[in-house]
Order: sequence, then structure tokens, then C-alpha cells
Amino acid sequence: MKLQNNQTEKRLGNEKATCRFATALGHCLRSTDTILLSGELGTGKTFFARALIQSILVQPEEVPSPTFTLVQTYKTKLGDLWHSDLYRIAQIEEIEELGLIDAFAHSICVVEWPDRLGPLMPEEALKIEFKMLTNKALARNVILTWTDAKWTQTVTKIMSGLSSG
Ligand SMILES: Nc1ncnc2c1ncn2[C@@H]1O[C@H](COP(=O)(O)OP(=O)(O)OP(=O)(O)O)[C@@H](O)[C@H]1O
Ligand SMILES: [Mg+2]
Repeated sequence: MKLQNNQTEKRLGNEKATCRFATALGHCLRSTDTILLSGELGTGKTFFARALIQSILVQPEEVPSPTFTLVQTYKTKLGDLWHSDLYRIAQIEEIEELGLIDAFAHSICVVEWPDRLGPLMPEEALKIEFKMLTNKALARNVILTWTDAKWTQTVTKIMSGLSSG
């Protein structure tokens, strides 16, 4: 783990490590937090989102990829959560029609392919970029970046929790 101002990088050696990281972050979220998940196809954005969502759901349920529905919503112990995949979005108006921009203000939002938001990308979000590692099929690197100071405490807390066991 490398910790700098407003940026941290972490190795997730296998799926279990990704689940632990997602669960730790899930439990630190507040009701209007936004997490933006970027990275190439198949790097683990949905896998991470599923683990995060399942760790805070009120009732256990399936968490399918929102690739085709664009948005899936959930009732969590921390409030309503929107899981969105913007890969197929061609026009920014389509995102506004989904209601996602409004949802940033009232729900937890977990967004895959957030580059599609362009100028509508929320500044206060925590950004997590997933990267494959060559020759390691089950390992990923994640780079966490933020500008809102609220994330410094959260990231420090989850990173110290993960490294201690
Ligand atoms: N350490 C790991 N963390 C996350 N996923 C992993 C890891 N190791 C292997 N995987 C596998 O990588 C795949 C990631 O697929 P996933 O659908 O999450 O990708 P994605 O980034 O959401 O892709 P897309 O851009 O198509 O939505 C899953 O099959 C998952 O089991
Ligand atoms: Mg996905």
C-alpha cells in the first residue's frame, strides 16, 4: 500500500481480498456518498460493487451487473443505493433521464464507467481505478483518488483495518 495526499494504491491479490476491501469500504459509507469505479472491461468493477452492496443490504438478494438495465437500486442499512453502469451511454442526456444526477444528492451511488458523466462527474466522489496485473490472473491493483477531505479519514481507516488482519 502506498499512501500519498489524496491518493492510495492497494494490491488486491485475489477475489477474497477484493471482497474484504469492498466490505470494509461499504461499512464506512454515509447516505449520500458516491464511488466511481473505472478500469478496463473485466477488471473487477462489478465484482467489487456486488461485494460492497451485499455487505450492507437490508435483505439478502442477487446483485446483477447493471450493464443492460443501466441502473439497479437497493435498500441498504445505510439508505438507498444506486448501482449504475454507464458503458452503453452515448449521450449525456440519457444519464440525466436515468435520474442518476439527482441520486448523487440523495442516495449512495456506485458508478461504473464514470467517464461517461463528463462535466457531471461529482467532485466529492471517491474514485477507484482497477488495473489488471500481467501474469497474475487473480490479482488487481486499485488506485483510490479523492479531493473531498472526508475520504482521507475513511481511506486511512479501511487501509489500517485491512493491513492488521
Ligand atoms: N482480485 C479480483 N478482484 C475482482 N475480480 C476478480 C479478481 N480476480 C479475478 N476476478 C474476476 O474478474 C472478473 C471481473 O469481472 P467484472 O464483471 O467485475 O468486471 P468489470 O470491471 O465490471 O467489467 P465491465 O467493464 O465489463 O463491467 C470476475 O469474473 C471476477 O471473478
Ligand atoms: Mg461491470
